[in-house]
Amino acid sequence: MDIATTEEWGALAEHRQALGATHLRELFAADPDRGTRLTGRAGDLYVDFSKHRVTDETLTLLLALAERSGLGERIAAMFRGERINTTEDRAVLHVALRMPEDAHLVVDGRDVVRDVHEVLGRMRGFADRVRSGEWRGHDGRRIRAVVNIGIGGSDLGPAMAYTALRDHSDRDLTVRFVSNIDPTDFAEATRDLDPAETLFVVSSKTFTTLETLTNATAARNWLLRSPGADESAVARHFVAVSTNTDAVRDFGIDPRNMFGFWDWVGGRYSFTSAIGLSLMVAIGPEAYDEMLAGFAAVDEHFRTAPLAANVPVLLGLLNVWYRDFFGAQSHAVLPYSQYLSRLPAYLQQLTMESNGKSVRADGEPVTVDTGEVFWGEPGTNGQHAFHQLLHQGTTVVPADFIGFGEPNHDLGEMHDLLMANMFAQSSALAFGRTAEEVAADGTPPELVPHKVMPGNRPSTVILAPRLTPATLGQLVALYEHVVFTQGVVWQLDSFDQWGVELGKVMARELAPALTGREPAAGDQDGSTAALVEQYRRMRGR
Ligand code: F6P
Repeated sequence: MDIATTEEWGALAEHRQALGATHLRELFAADPDRGTRLTGRAGDLYVDFSKHRVTDETLTLLLALAERSGLGERIAAMFRGERINTTEDRAVLHVALRMPEDAHLVVDGRDVVRDVHEVLGRMRGFADRVRSGEWRGHDGRRIRAVVNIGIGGSDLGPAMAYTALRDHSDRDLTVRFVSNIDPTDFAEATRDLDPAETLFVVSSKTFTTLETLTNATAARNWLLRSPGADESAVARHFVAVSTNTDAVRDFGIDPRNMFGFWDWVGGRYSFTSAIGLSLMVAIGPEAYDEMLAGFAAVDEHFRTAPLAANVPVLLGLLNVWYRDFFGAQSHAVLPYSQYLSRLPAYLQQLTMESNGKSVRADGEPVTVDTGEVFWGEPGTNGQHAFHQLLHQGTTVVPADFIGFGEPNHDLGEMHDLLMANMFAQSSALAFGRTAEEVAADGTPPELVPHKVMPGNRPSTVILAPRLTPATLGQLVALYEHVVFTQGVVWQLDSFDQWGVELGKVMARELAPALTGREPAAGDQDGSTAALVEQYRRMRGR
C-alpha cells in the first residue's frame, strides 16, 4: 500500500484545495472558543495548536489518515517490543528505558525493564561516588571535571540536557562535552583542566565511531602525559558507555567501568540509556529520576490517549499536513528559554536522521515528501535575526514556540517580557496586519505594502509550568513521538540511518592521502582529487 494512493490521502488533497487561503482570522472569528478548544495536554505541557491552518474537518481527515496508516497498532507494537526497526531487525524500546521499576516487558525471553534498572542502579551508585568525592583520581584527588566524549546521539542528548538543567547541576563540577574530530574541540574542552581531577565518560553505542575513539585516544594521551600518571591511572579516569563490551576492553577500559545498553535503543533515542551518565553525574540521581518520570508520563500519554486527544499524534499529523499539502520544507523550533539553546540541535538529529528518507520501510521509493528541515534558536534572539522571513517571507515555516510559566531566575519583569514576546510572535504570525490596519496608523501610502503582515502562518505554542528535569523529559518524549507518528504515516523505518554510512567509509579511505601516508592521487573524483592536492600543498606534504 502506498499512503499517497489511499482514499484518505486523496480526501486531504481535496480538502486542502477547498481550504485554499482561508485565513486564521476567519477561523478564529467563526469560532470564539477555538483558542481554548484546539489545545491539549501531555503531562504538564499545555499545547495550543489553535493557530494552525486547520478546521475540524481537517483534523478528522488527518486522524482518518492516521487510522489508515495503522498508527494505533504501530504504537502498540513499539511498546510490545516488536521488531519495528525492520531494516536492522531490531525492537525499538527507548520507552522501556523510562518504565518504572515495577513494570515488566519481556523481549526475547528477557525482562528488559529489570536490565534497565540494574544499569540505572549502577549509574546512580557511580554518580553518587563522583559527586561525593568518594571516587578519586589516580593521585587521590577528587574529581572536579567530567568530560563526555561522544557524538550524535551519544552527545546531543546529555549535552542539550546539561545546558537545559544547569540550574539543577552541581556548580562545583565542570562538565564538558567533546564530540567533533576537529582537534579544537578537545583542546578547548581540556585546556584549563587538570588531568588528575578529570574523569572521561567515553560514550558510544558501537564503540567504533572514528570521532569518539580518536578523541578518547587523545584524552588518554593527555592523561598519560601528565605528571605521575601511568597506565594504571586509566581505570580512575575513564569509564565507558556502550553496547560493545569487546571494543571497550580492546580500547583499554576495564568492562567493570562500563555501563551498558542494548541494540534496541537507537543512537538518537539513547539519551535516557546509560548515555545519560554524564548528565546524571552533573544533576544527581534524584533529578535524573525526575526527568525519567517526565519522559514516562508522556510515553504513557502516547500509548494510551485516543488518537484524537493524543498530543504527539496531533502534532505529527500537523507536520505531515504542512510538509505534504503546503510544501513546507522546514520547521522552526523556537524555545523562549536560554537554557534550551541546544534543543534545536538535538531535535535536528532526532527528526532528520529519523525521517530524512526517500525509501519506505518496504524498500519502495516514497511518493510523498518526507522529513522537513528542523532549525531554530532561542527567542528572543531569533526575532532579531530570522523572524523577518517567518513573518513576511514567501515560504511557509511552521514554528514551535516553547515557553515556561515560571522563570528559573526571576529578575524583575524580565521573564514577563520574554513571554510577552513569545505570545506576540505567535499571534503576529497567525493574524498579521492588513493594509487597512497599517494605513490607519498614518503610515505613508508608499510604505504600506512593506508593513503589511500577511499572517496565516502556523505555529504551535507549548507552555510548561517551569523548566525542570520532569518537564524537559516530557518535552523530549513529546518530540520523539511526533517523529514516530510522521514516520508511520510516511511508511518509513524511522530507526535506521543508512544515509550516514557512505561518507564515513569514504573519509576513512581518503584519510591516508591527506596525512601523506599514501600518494595524493587515488581513484577520487576530479573535484576531490584537486582538493586533496590543494590541502597537501597547504600542509607541506
Ligand atoms: O553517524 C550516525 C550515528 O550512527 C548516529 O546515529 C549515532 O548517534 C552516532 O553516529 C554515534 O554513534 P555511536 O554512539 O555508535 O558512537
